[in-house]
Amino acid sequence: MLEEQLKSYIQTKGPVSTRAFMEACLYDPQHGYYRVGSPIGSEGDFITAPEISQMFGEMISIWTVLTWQMMGQPFPLQIVELGPGRGTLMSDLLRSLSRIHPQSETISVHLVERSDSLKTVQTQILEGFECPISWHRSLADVPSAPTILIANEFLDCLPIRQFIKTGSGWHERVVGLDDNGDFCFRVGSEVPKGMIIPTRLLQAEVGSIFEFCPDFELVMKDIHRLASQHPFAGLFVDYGFEGPNIGETLQAVKLHKKVSPFMTPGEVDLTAHVDFTAFGALAVANGLKAFGPRDQGAFLSQLGIGARAEILVQSASEEQAEKLASDVVRLVAPEHMGSLFKALCITSATLDAPPPFDQKVVLQNDTSQN
Ligand SMILES: C[S@@+](CC[C@H](N)C(=O)[O-])C[C@H]1O[C@@H](n2cnc3c(N)ncnc32)[C@H](O)[C@@H]1O
Repeated sequence: MLEEQLKSYIQTKGPVSTRAFMEACLYDPQHGYYRVGSPIGSEGDFITAPEISQMFGEMISIWTVLTWQMMGQPFPLQIVELGPGRGTLMSDLLRSLSRIHPQSETISVHLVERSDSLKTVQTQILEGFECPISWHRSLADVPSAPTILIANEFLDCLPIRQFIKTGSGWHERVVGLDDNGDFCFRVGSEVPKGMIIPTRLLQAEVGSIFEFCPDFELVMKDIHRLASQHPFAGLFVDYGFEGPNIGETLQAVKLHKKVSPFMTPGEVDLTAHVDFTAFGALAVANGLKAFGPRDQGAFLSQLGIGARAEILVQSASEEQAEKLASDVVRLVAPEHMGSLFKALCITSATLDAPPPFDQKVVLQNDTSQN
């Protein structure tokens, strides 16, 4: 149904940007991917780290306590999660937190979620916890207070713009229709000189693609509001790279398989790899600090995932022990999620690097202004 709507729009008004196409597919009020259903888990379209193992959420809870101590143990503390999915990460985090920190009932939790169906799932899984939990449509609605923010596989959901290098310079990449009336990529208007395309990519080969996420700036604006008044530390874990890079990362996934981004709009997950350098550079440009990114494997290992697995194995059946071992490999090994997935930390200007981040600060991106 969304397919017909988009095609009819393109027929009358002309091609739309990749960003507009992605935005409609993910968030259309009636037929958008995140408006209906529950796409996460083995029965859904994709699986995420917290759905693989409780150990992921437990490591994030250790990170939360270490970070909170480094922040000077502010109370009241709010834990904010962007895109909580099925609520599994927050559930594991809170359960673990209540064991390792006795005062954890004095925290409040704020979940930022656009999907009504996932909000229902989250409400159910988080029912038994005593701390106050509230839901918001946008980070802009979260109150200002000392904050630890968690976002696992959130930034990759944000719609991206794509640009393509042609013989006459860089152009917006747009979605149009071919002679059969099917969706296809086309070359749109030229990018004004000095805008968006990083200087070092200006001479890229014809046919090169550059991706840019304008919504990073909106997220950073909200982070800046939170971080400028109170101590703030945010952890962003996602698949991504240290840019700027040439190459298309826009991907569509249905039932755990890669498919065409044009297949049944609104029914397949559309994401793009995260340019951590661009996101970190925005933090620095806003007067905040950015640490990392660190590979997920190193991040989880330094927080003690190996030791945690050993403890769990002691009371596990043989079958459970095998699963625990394979879960660690899946989360940590470079050939699985350990190196494609990375963790970036953003803090208010007055804070030092929370463990296990070192002092490495993401370098200023050389992107000209958007
Ligand atoms: C890929 S899932 C990750 C879920 C969870 N963090 C996990 O690791 O299992 C993306 C989550 O972000 C939510 N989401 C996507 N776009 C969003 C937006 N613009 N604002 C708020 N939530 C969004 C989705 O509904 C979903 O809960």
